[in-house]
Amino acid sequence: MLSLAVTLAILAVSCSGQSVQVDGNKVVDTLTRLANFSDHENPAVTRILFSPNDMLARTFVKDLMRDANLIVREDKMGNIFGRWEGSNPSAGVVLTGSHCDAIPLAGMYDGTLGVIGGIEAIAALQRAGYKPAASIEVLMFTSEEPTRFGLSCSGSRALAGALEAEVLESKLDSEGRHFVQVANEVGYGASSTQEMLDATKLAPGQVAHFVELHIEQGPFLEAEGKDIGVVTAIAAPAALEVVFVGDGGHAGGQLMPARNDAGLAGAELALAVERHVLATGSVDTVGTTGTFEISPGAINSVPREARLAIDIRDIDGPRRDSVVAAVLESAREIAERRKVRMSSRVINQDPPASSHDDIVSAAASSAQQLGLSVKHMVSRAYHDSLFMARVAPMGMIFIPCKNGWSHRPDEFAKPEDIANGVSVLALTMARLSGGSWPKTEL
Ligand code: GLV
Ligand code: MN
Ligand code: MN
Repeated sequence: MLSLAVTLAILAVSCSGQSVQVDGNKVVDTLTRLANFSDHENPAVTRILFSPNDMLARTFVKDLMRDANLIVREDKMGNIFGRWEGSNPSAGVVLTGSHCDAIPLAGMYDGTLGVIGGIEAIAALQRAGYKPAASIEVLMFTSEEPTRFGLSCSGSRALAGALEAEVLESKLDSEGRHFVQVANEVGYGASSTQEMLDATKLAPGQVAHFVELHIEQGPFLEAEGKDIGVVTAIAAPAALEVVFVGDGGHAGGQLMPARNDAGLAGAELALAVERHVLATGSVDTVGTTGTFEISPGAINSVPREARLAIDIRDIDGPRRDSVVAAVLESAREIAERRKVRMSSRVINQDPPASSHDDIVSAAASSAQQLGLSVKHMVSRAYHDSLFMARVAPMGMIFIPCKNGWSHRPDEFAKPEDIANGVSVLALTMARLSGGSWPKTEL
């Protein structure tokens, strides 16, 4: 009896000792090549949905997937999948992935790490001789960033069945075109938005687990000297647009008492956003007036129109909603007092998502197996995982990034942290797939 127990213990150690080799510098090299597909010169990266550079990046990603012997497929919205078939192909897949679009003047790690790192994690498992049971897939989501159509996470919303045709149709790009029109031009799309969304939606049970690797985009891992963040929940993001319209006028001729300056109404609202956010007293509430356009935009013209896009987030959904309500109330009050017309639109007001315990523990155990320190933490940025959580157990793995910087050209993650993150992802997927490792000599 004792000898059986000892044997089992050795086996357990032997199994958990299975590991993968990941070269962080090689991943950085691939990320650097991907960064070249950019509308701004590196180190800045700007890659807007379905732009020529986005299409080149897509080809680059598909080639990498094929080089890793993955079966590539694309859906009608341009979500790109690479599949490593398991011995149980009818089981729900273990899916990983992230995005390759980049907001204007961003860096080269946001999202891309989860795609390139996902492909590399699979390649590392292949090199280690791991044989998956449930198939393992890596996914490049279409348009996590809201830059082109003003809607974040379009691909994952659609995959999760959380995107209505009329919502997507209400979003136009700066040239007044619809998503499906632009998608058709680049070779995706369908005869209608509805047909495109119906074809994109995942079947129930198609995904058994979803896990995304990402840079933290915040300062905590680096500041606390932790190697890996295991995400327990994703904060709730909301996006509003507020437009003030006044009568404009000549900057010299229009006397101050006669003005209804839409720009000043917008300026007051931007300050009100900050005030309402700070009034919660919680560091977890954040608000940003990320775009603020005034027109006609001439030095000698009183602004006739101000258009603000406001991002408000919190890990506490009801508290976030109370800030949204307070901001909209301020917009009404400012409009009335300054005698400008006001319209507002809630672009999205998504609830927070929780990670699934199975993925949290698979990721934490994988990190511990590699001797890495772990912090359980909340994601303050949103991710496609927010929507994937609606169709599958979800989890995320974070690595530190320099000073917590992201959405700026000097975003940076160390090759060794990248190697750690990819290795943890690989081992996490192996645990979730339930496959087999090559027999080791005892
Ligand atoms: C994602 O890019 C976010 O803004 O959180
Ligand atoms: Mn981003
Ligand atoms: Mn991202």
